[in-house]
Amino acid sequence: MSKRVFIHTVGCQMNVLDSEMVIADLKRHGYTVVDSPKQADCVLYNTCSVREHAEEKVYSALGKLRQMKELDPGKTIGVMGCMAQKDQEIVFKRAPYVDLVVGPGQLHTLPDLLAKIEAGEGRQMAVSLSRTDGSQASIARSHETFDPLRDPSMRPTPFQAYLRIQIGCDKFCTYCVVPNTRGPEQGRPPSQILSEARVLAEQGCREITLLGQTVNSYRFKDDEQATDLASLLEELHEVDGIDRIKFVTNYPKDMTERLLTTVRDLPKCAPYLHVPAQSGSDEVLKRMKRGYTVSDYMEMFERIERILPEASVSSDFIVGFCGETEEDFQKSVRLIERCRFKNSFIFQYSVRPGTTASKRLEDDVPREVKLRRNNDLLEVQDRLAKEDNLKRVNSVVEVLVEGPSKVGFKADAEAQVVQMIGRTDCDRIVVFDGNRRQAGQFVNVKVDDASCHTLIGRIQTVDVVSIAAPAFSS
Ligand code: SAH
Ligand code: SF4
Ligand code: F3S
Repeated sequence: MSKRVFIHTVGCQMNVLDSEMVIADLKRHGYTVVDSPKQADCVLYNTCSVREHAEEKVYSALGKLRQMKELDPGKTIGVMGCMAQKDQEIVFKRAPYVDLVVGPGQLHTLPDLLAKIEAGEGRQMAVSLSRTDGSQASIARSHETFDPLRDPSMRPTPFQAYLRIQIGCDKFCTYCVVPNTRGPEQGRPPSQILSEARVLAEQGCREITLLGQTVNSYRFKDDEQATDLASLLEELHEVDGIDRIKFVTNYPKDMTERLLTTVRDLPKCAPYLHVPAQSGSDEVLKRMKRGYTVSDYMEMFERIERILPEASVSSDFIVGFCGETEEDFQKSVRLIERCRFKNSFIFQYSVRPGTTASKRLEDDVPREVKLRRNNDLLEVQDRLAKEDNLKRVNSVVEVLVEGPSKVGFKADAEAQVVQMIGRTDCDRIVVFDGNRRQAGQFVNVKVDDASCHTLIGRIQTVDVVSIAAPAFSS
């Protein structure tokens, strides 16, 4: 009988992609995927370390498995991903019934490790070298990925896929654990990326999202030539079957004129740019070691407005970073008011062991102040996003349909018309009444109403669009 695996994934898109590949690999080794830990022979948690809260949730989920393991000692429990790399032996200490700890750079060893556990060789751990534990080359090698394995069935929709172009990060923002958990920044060879894009297109994928922690810093150099993100986009644009190309996450300092004009000139490139600002205060940005000032950020933002006037820009902010005063915080409010981001992810600062901030700066903003600033900033962001979305009422937007919305999922299986959900090329979420067969297609939707996160509309036929639609960017 085939073995059954359950996987739970938290964290960023990198983890979603890693889980997809782990599952592809395990299927090749005879596993089938099940929906609950109870049904599984092997339970895997793909974890995130970026904030303490994300880790505590995993430890508490692991706690709930203790009893299950006692009743069924043959069940294998594995912790993979960034928390596995960061905590290593600590995972076994905090949850002694865990059998397996695998860092994000060692996931290709997972089937072997599971076989060893099955063969009675006991608990297994595979992690990458830490950033001070060897030569640059050996550390980089220990953070390898195994991206070419793809499994469409693990993706939220078969028409959309992530494609990693960069591993790791070398920016070392003082608050961030990622350079430690994901290792040195490495651009993947363009030839690998292109062949993977072709495989995805053959599998029916129409939209790819290129992934990197600082994706626009992408560089690959061999004896023949150097490739940057702009030239990679030009090559990917030639792949038949791929209709939309997005890329996340961008680093403000590397948003060059050349990249923006490339996005403008390539019709398949989505005019959607996630460029986290993190703070609107120069003092805070300096303590974060982000490498830019607010005026540098604004200069970049104005470059985007000039070259890609129809683009949507989104951001991340951290509130309550070490030493953040009320005045500093108000500067973040003002930056949001000035840039009117499509959306912003707002996080309360969480001290991460091993980071520069944890060693040198005091986490001196009280919890309740962090919470209040979080709510205040979100309130401003959501109000502006709603105003901007309402301006889109009566326009027609092109949507790649992902499938039934949450409401649509609950609809009767026989129902002809269900609520569907999709996204514009500017990454705006759109819901409309349609049918399930539209999943994977591009359709035109006339916007009737809007909230801060969603446009609500009606599907339009192509003829109506060409006669009645006002020219309006999505
Ligand atoms: N590479 C991306 C972001 C990776 S982490 C970038 O540089 O933009 C995603 C987001 O989590 C960050 O943008 C930041 O806003 C937030 N974050 C990272 N470390 C954090 C910490 N210690 N506390 C709170 N938020 C944090
Ligand atoms: Fe973390 Fe900064 Fe790297 Fe982003 S750029 S992953 S915030 S260190
Ligand atoms: Fe979390 Fe690791 Fe991503 S720490 S945000 S899962 S790179």
